[in-house]
Amino acid sequence: MSKFLSYLLILSFFFFNSLGTDSSPLSTRCPTHHCGNVTISYPFWVHNVSEQQLCGCNGFGVRCEKGKVILGLPGDWYTYYVKDINYTDHTLTIVDIDVTNKSCPRASHNVSLGTLPLKYSSTDLNLSFNFNCTSYPPTVPSIPCLNIGTNRSYVFVENHETEDFDWSKNCEEKVVVPVKQTQIDTSNLIGGFGMAMNGGFLLDWGRVKNCGTCERSGGYCGYNIIAEELFCFCNDGIIRSGNCKGMFSVIIMWMWECGTDMHELLLHPCLGF
Ligand SMILES: *[C@@H]1O[C@H](CO)[C@@H](O)[C@H](O)[C@H]1NC(C)=O
Ligand SMILES: *[C@@H]1O[C@H](CO)[C@@H](O)[C@H](O)[C@H]1NC(C)=O
Ligand SMILES: *[C@@H]1O[C@H](CO)[C@@H](O)[C@H](O)[C@H]1NC(C)=O
Ligand SMILES: *[C@@H]1O[C@H](CO)[C@@H](O)[C@H](O)[C@H]1NC(C)=O
Ligand SMILES: *[C@@H]1O[C@H](CO)[C@@H](O)[C@H](O)[C@H]1NC(C)=O
Ligand SMILES: *[C@@H]1O[C@H](CO)[C@@H](O)[C@H](O)[C@H]1NC(C)=O
Ligand SMILES: *[C@@H]1O[C@H](CO)[C@@H](O)[C@H](O)[C@H]1NC(C)=O
Ligand SMILES: *[C@@H]1O[C@H](CO)[C@@H](O)[C@H](O)[C@H]1NC(C)=O
Repeated sequence: MSKFLSYLLILSFFFFNSLGTDSSPLSTRCPTHHCGNVTISYPFWVHNVSEQQLCGCNGFGVRCEKGKVILGLPGDWYTYYVKDINYTDHTLTIVDIDVTNKSCPRASHNVSLGTLPLKYSSTDLNLSFNFNCTSYPPTVPSIPCLNIGTNRSYVFVENHETEDFDWSKNCEEKVVVPVKQTQIDTSNLIGGFGMAMNGGFLLDWGRVKNCGTCERSGGYCGYNIIAEELFCFCNDGIIRSGNCKGMFSVIIMWMWECGTDMHELLLHPCLGF
């Protein structure tokens, strides 16, 4: 119990200091960052150890390195450059870091969105690659820059692969890569896939699912990675569990469940509220 009480004391100190007596508008607590040409603001947030991460949603944390915005996606947390975030139509354009600046890129993995509240845009088109095929239909053109010895590699618009041939049986790997429809001429996939992949693809984020009720009540949604819970940051400076019309602050509940060392909790770089 004494442990709990000390959490309570430290936490209320922290919250009253950082929120309660702070009359600044939420926008200063959900700071906008600029990284290269990209503006990063809610629901995205920048991993920054020297700043309390107060706003944004789990999985939407980005890094800013040398003027480039870097996003990891689930799966093996493959990394992507974020070329653009459009806050009007809720889209982001990302490019697989492995393919950037390569004229003949060999995609190494599928895209994985995991459980992130992201969707492929309807303006994307999936390219389907079959790499290192040891046998193949003789008349289908292959990608010259990826051929090795007698092995051939192929690119198709997904679901438009040459029929009557079992690519999966004859090739080493299939990888599906989204590109922007406008970046590729489907009659010249072999000549154009490299450029198209460098142009990246679009994802829609829409409203983060469970953040909707919070946002509609005028709050900013935050996710605490340690408590694994969503919080709503309201204009009156109170953090609530559901939305800004709710009566209860969740802080005490949250501490009760939290076995983490307080120091670590406050300084944790992923405190991704
Ligand atoms: C920023 O935009 C300018 C003009 O469009 C472009 O020349 C420059 O390469 C961009 N910088 C980055 C880091 O993308
Ligand atoms: C991290 O935050 C500090 C203090 O606000 C700021 O000076 C610095 O530029 C930030 N770093 C990044 C990578 O955003
Ligand atoms: C965002 O997307 C909208 C709709 O496609 C477009 O009109 C607008 O110019 C875009 N904004 C930026 C900053 O690119
Ligand atoms: C691609 O190459 C250009 C020119 O060499 C360079 O300015 C740019 O930073 C490179 N982009 C990436 C993402 O490495
Ligand atoms: C591309 O592939 C992804 C993942 O398999 C799928 O969710 C998406 O709908 C596909 N997009 C198109 C335009 O077919
Ligand atoms: C084909 O396989 C060889 C040997 O494993 C590998 O070095 C090469 O990168 C592969 N090529 C492609 C396009 O996957
Ligand atoms: C050709 O591809 C097969 C897998 O399909 C791979 O085992 C082999 O090493 C490749 N050959 C060359 C010369 O890369
Ligand atoms: C990529 O996804 C396709 C189906 O969309 C699947 O057949 C293929 O095995 C996947 N490739 C890898 C490397 O996981």
